Amino acid sequence: MCGIIGYVGRRSSPPILLEGLRRLEYRGYDSSGLCVQTPAGLGIRKKVGRIDAGLARECAARPVEGTLGIAHTRWATHGAPSDENSHPHLDQEGRVAVVHNGVIENYQSIRDRLSAAGHVFHSETDTEVLAHLIGVHYAQVRAREATRDLHPLAAAVMSALREVIGTYGIAVMASDAPGVMVGARRGSPLILGVGDHENFIASDASAIVAHTQQAVYLNDYDVITVTADDFKLANLGSDTAQAQIRQIEFSPDAAEKGDFPHYMLKEIFEQPRTIENALRGRIDREELSARFGGLNLSLAELRAIDRVVIVACGTSWHAGLVGEYLFEEFAHLPTEVEYASEFRYRNAPIEKHTLVLAITQSGETADTLAGLRESRRRGHKVLALCNVVGSTIAREADGGIYLHAGPEIGVASTKAFTAQVSVLVLLALLMGRTRMLSAQRGAQIIKALEALPAQVESILARDAEIKRIALKYAAAEDFFFLGRQYQFPVALEGALKLKEISYIHAEGYPAAEMKHGPIAMIDDRTPTVFLVPQDALYEKTLANVAEIKARKGPVIAIATEGDTEIRRKVEDVIEIPATLEPLVPLLAVIPLQLLAYHIAVARGCDVDKPRNLAKSVTVE
Ligand code: M6R
Repeated sequence: MCGIIGYVGRRSSPPILLEGLRRLEYRGYDSSGLCVQTPAGLGIRKKVGRIDAGLARECAARPVEGTLGIAHTRWATHGAPSDENSHPHLDQEGRVAVVHNGVIENYQSIRDRLSAAGHVFHSETDTEVLAHLIGVHYAQVRAREATRDLHPLAAAVMSALREVIGTYGIAVMASDAPGVMVGARRGSPLILGVGDHENFIASDASAIVAHTQQAVYLNDYDVITVTADDFKLANLGSDTAQAQIRQIEFSPDAAEKGDFPHYMLKEIFEQPRTIENALRGRIDREELSARFGGLNLSLAELRAIDRVVIVACGTSWHAGLVGEYLFEEFAHLPTEVEYASEFRYRNAPIEKHTLVLAITQSGETADTLAGLRESRRRGHKVLALCNVVGSTIAREADGGIYLHAGPEIGVASTKAFTAQVSVLVLLALLMGRTRMLSAQRGAQIIKALEALPAQVESILARDAEIKRIALKYAAAEDFFFLGRQYQFPVALEGALKLKEISYIHAEGYPAAEMKHGPIAMIDDRTPTVFLVPQDALYEKTLANVAEIKARKGPVIAIATEGDTEIRRKVEDVIEIPATLEPLVPLLAVIPLQLLAYHIAVARGCDVDKPRNLAKSVTVE
């Protein structure tokens, strides 16, 4: 939700900032802007709209030059997308510039106070208020004697942030602080990229990985002062902040589209490898179980767990629902899956031996983070299933499992889902084997897991056939996605994929629930994607298919290879290889991702950056 990049070094900053913004555009894309330190003062350019059509053109028409700059791509919270509301924002004197990701909750009272003192605001944003506040403190700090330890701009940022309630990842510069930028975070991610005679500040590693693979992941309340050759860390709450330089886990290539027209398609096609990576080194063939490096739970603690609560949002929540079926079947563990946004404000009872599991691709989702913090505050251990290494949730959890899926840039989550479900199968296997799951069943599950990458490959090979079916239905305005048991979460996920990137109204339901109301919607213009693998409920699901057909609803079936019966009953069939019932979601979801993708492309939608959305939702 909003992306920030800052650069200080020997090179011209605008091209680096623009390129960094393009890589961050998936975080927010309604407007963008940059500020560069020039000999004549601060050079600001900002524009509503996408980067290439807006800011990049503006910079080409009115070039600005300098070796220090900060930049921002926005997902609007306070104030509609407009040139005025775009970042950077300046203080009252026009001396301090700020870019900000997050929400300043008490901005109105600060704005009122500053307005009463004569400040004039030019936007509706909370960020402009923060810029003015930093400006006020900067004037005060500069009037006092400079401290040897802290640059006056950093001292001003720290004083201002002590007045602020809310979340922020910020980059700050001043016209009279040559070669210095300051970054700070609370609740919104920020990293320092450490280069050779140049340094970077960014919301995430993808913006800077082309320049450096060395990074410092800032903690909440950290304030960092950065020059071309140095950086200095302070913390609002402690005197002992220490910067730890870490290697960025992925290569620059991993964040590129390559030959694919969209990141989403690239990420769908990466799944044979990302599933393999999620499983790598975690299968225990001797014990016919699974093993994880970072759980931080002893065998006794694992055995003592008597309930699981999963906290997540969106696609990660759907993966959690598959987890519920897995934990119950493999380990007889009662499991609940909570929307993080609801969980955080409920007083949900969590008993002593309940395991709380936070599932998140980004590791920055505000609601999931709040759920984690609330659980830990109550004294419960929280494990995180997370993709982004060094993210806030990964660092704050008591233990965790990385997905190793590589950067997911497409706003619609694809490879993260299959990596999450793969890890959940392993975790449920481990829980099961420490309880009553037989060795024979353990061996079956492992064999089926190992077959997955090749099976996913074989589904991807059907892409042309799936595209043909997608084009046939691309004009529909309503879709249903139906499945039972393990296929119900897949139906929800298929519907979410379609609606978020094509803006078609789509609903996922348990197939047998349709007759309790939603079937009223079915007619010959409303296609249903039916998940009908040959599983324990196959015959019953066929009866549900018949209910839709009786109302003239067209059906696209996702069915097991070689199922001739279903072909006689429905318009279109996409086959998936046979696997164990609990693993079917990992195969069945692939055609749904491709269907959504091809339908969205056919409708001319911006697949990687759907309207109104952003990749990681770091506001409440
Ligand atoms: O990064 P997270 O997994 O915590 O994100 C959760 C949701 O915001 C995310 O899955 C969202 O629903 C995606 N756009 C779905 O494709």
